[in-house]
Amino acid sequence: MSHPAVALRTLAAPRGFHIGTAVAFPHLRHNRRYAATLAREFSMLTAENTMKWAALRPDRQRYDFTDADYLARFAAANHQVLRGHTLLWHQALPAWLSSASLSNRQWENTLRNHIDIVVHHFRGQVQTWDVVNEAIDENKGCALRDSLWLAHLGPDYIARAFRWAHAADPAARLYYNDYGAEGMNRKSDAVYRLVSGLLEHGVPMHGVGLQMHVSPEDHPRLTDVARNMRRLGKAGLAVQVTELDVRLKTPVTPKKLAEQARLYRDILQICLDNKNCTACVTWGFTDAYSWVPGFFKGYDQALLFDAAYRPKPAYQAWTAALTK
Ligand code: G3I
Repeated sequence: MSHPAVALRTLAAPRGFHIGTAVAFPHLRHNRRYAATLAREFSMLTAENTMKWAALRPDRQRYDFTDADYLARFAAANHQVLRGHTLLWHQALPAWLSSASLSNRQWENTLRNHIDIVVHHFRGQVQTWDVVNEAIDENKGCALRDSLWLAHLGPDYIARAFRWAHAADPAARLYYNDYGAEGMNRKSDAVYRLVSGLLEHGVPMHGVGLQMHVSPEDHPRLTDVARNMRRLGKAGLAVQVTELDVRLKTPVTPKKLAEQARLYRDILQICLDNKNCTACVTWGFTDAYSWVPGFFKGYDQALLFDAAYRPKPAYQAWTAALTK
């Protein structure tokens, strides 16, 4: 497929809409083609891993911002906005933390200090934070997930995390981010109840991230995604598609790539049609680097560019949707 004439970010800009992607750090630093495509095509960047606890907190005392700062400088140089991912998750925690033996008060101080220091550090650089990631457990009746945060801080930990983040950067947009809660289902109902409750209690939060890890044979009904966006909008919240990828069963055929393109197009179109949806972010952009093959056995090629950085039919479908 020929090289695109106009980049996605350029096509989206007049709408005030962001086309974004997650950045796999080592490639940003060491692969010029990767960095050039990233700069050219996307106006919003998420750190795939570099802002997680495991990356920022080598030990209890130290914060290591080296890689995350590199990413922030890259984004600034290329006029891209940054999504910070993520301040509070049950995964990607450093071993020293998971195995720590602390009082509940010390756990709270540890989280509070982390949020305060990290959000302060990126003030004016990170526009939007995924403050809390994946706190609802679909395998537990969509109650709050058992995590060390819930165990040591109690169910109010989510509200407190948002308040601390807001205090550290009052201008940052603060999101709750989750998977499997994109359409209308038990989990998205639970997310809706959670965020509505937070808003009623005056908790500073601005949006919900809809991750959207899907495949042609396993995705939410598109009309339901639109309904879910609308109800969140009525509650006063923005939404962003935060981790979109469309995995394909191998071997991949032209027919499957065409199905993938349709699904990419439809998801972007729902975003463009709902005015509270402000960005569509893919979880990586080249099939050379994606979490998909390692996690979903027998699936691959989930992104907009192939492994040789050639735009795929999904890319052309986005160009067409943004050009309409
Ligand atoms: O960097 C080390 C490398 O030095 C080491 O040799 C190698 C051996 O396992 O591990 C490398 O780190 C891995 C890292 O990805 C970078 O590749 C971690 O083990 C691995 O756990 C990590 O996985 C990430 C996962 O989150 C957990 O943090 C994935 O890349 C990342 O795509 C995934 O992203 C999540 C979102 O944050 C939340 N939503 C779901 C999404 C997909 O799981």
